[in-house]
Amino acid sequence: MYVKYMKRHGSGAVYGKIQTCGRIAYAPTVYIIWRKYVRFVKITHCCHLPAKMVGCKPGQAGACIMMYDWQTMQKTHTSQEPGQSAGQAQSDSSTHFGFQTVAETEKAGKVAEVFHSVAQRYDVMNDLMSMGLHRAWKAFTVGRADVRPGMKVLDIAGGTGDLARAFAKKAGATGEVWLTDINDSMLRVGRDRLTDKGMLLPTAVCDAEKLPFPSGYFDRVSVAFGLRNMTHKDHALSEMRRVLKPGGKLLVLEFSRVAKPLAPAYDWYSFKILPWMGQKVAGDQESYRYLAESIRMHPDQETLAGMLEQAGLSRVRYFNLSAGVVALHEGINLG
Ligand SMILES: C[S@@+](CC[C@H](N)C(=O)[O-])C[C@H]1O[C@@H](n2cnc3c(N)ncnc32)[C@H](O)[C@@H]1O
Repeated sequence: MYVKYMKRHGSGAVYGKIQTCGRIAYAPTVYIIWRKYVRFVKITHCCHLPAKMVGCKPGQAGACIMMYDWQTMQKTHTSQEPGQSAGQAQSDSSTHFGFQTVAETEKAGKVAEVFHSVAQRYDVMNDLMSMGLHRAWKAFTVGRADVRPGMKVLDIAGGTGDLARAFAKKAGATGEVWLTDINDSMLRVGRDRLTDKGMLLPTAVCDAEKLPFPSGYFDRVSVAFGLRNMTHKDHALSEMRRVLKPGGKLLVLEFSRVAKPLAPAYDWYSFKILPWMGQKVAGDQESYRYLAESIRMHPDQETLAGMLEQAGLSRVRYFNLSAGVVALHEGINLG
């Protein structure tokens, strides 16, 4: 059975066909339906589609679909959920967890499950997945941070502590470098790693959206591969700005939008190889599928730069690393 779909996009109508026979039962599934305009359609579950939306008869079996614009990955359309009126289909209090739509209140718990699950194998998977490149991305971030002796630095979503360790070496004995994360499993691995290297850093479990630090306290705030997982990125960025001293710098290292020619290969790697590797090495395919999906849902370089400005940061700029697989954004708190 085919579900016919029609939607206005930019200057013209876009038509797509989704083959749903059988497989719809195994939702969520990602379909590539239209090369130029819309690439991802997520089938969330079986339902009866309203005729006006898909051009099929009322009550005809179909799929509940969500459409994402490929360039911005913004949700452009959500069809009706079973038992919902059209006006209810897109609720303000929903967010995304990878390609799933979840209640905002659920997201943090789901993210927590991912990181509790991967914590012990996180470092080895990082090296494997990025073929060691994450070390270069972090080294670049440390260079741009320009931490000097005596500085106060906050590493948010610090996980297993790569950045905190590098910052601590630069800040020296007179400096103060905090390793923080919302997830105690990740933080425990990080703290143990630091202790094994003879470093005792202040460590705190905390949510980036409600930082337990006074305003204007830090010279540098960093977040590496963490912002993507946060429910209210705008709150988190405002909090990061709040705790920066006037003149202090925020550094956001995160997966971003890869250069177009590399996109097909990168998609294949992300959706085929990563989950497979996750299963083999960490015994957890789903968490690595979430990683691939959450990268697609994260704002692109320009959008994120705008969000930093919106949060009150100035002189915002970004650097594409590895052809945009990752981008480092930075901004200054001018107070
Ligand atoms: C992919 S890991 C990154 C760890 C480390 N920064 C690195 O670069 O290797 C993402 C981290 O973000 C943390 N995280 C997710 N949501 C958070 C939040 N709201 N506040 C603080 N940390 C959060 C997770 O617990 C996880 O440890």
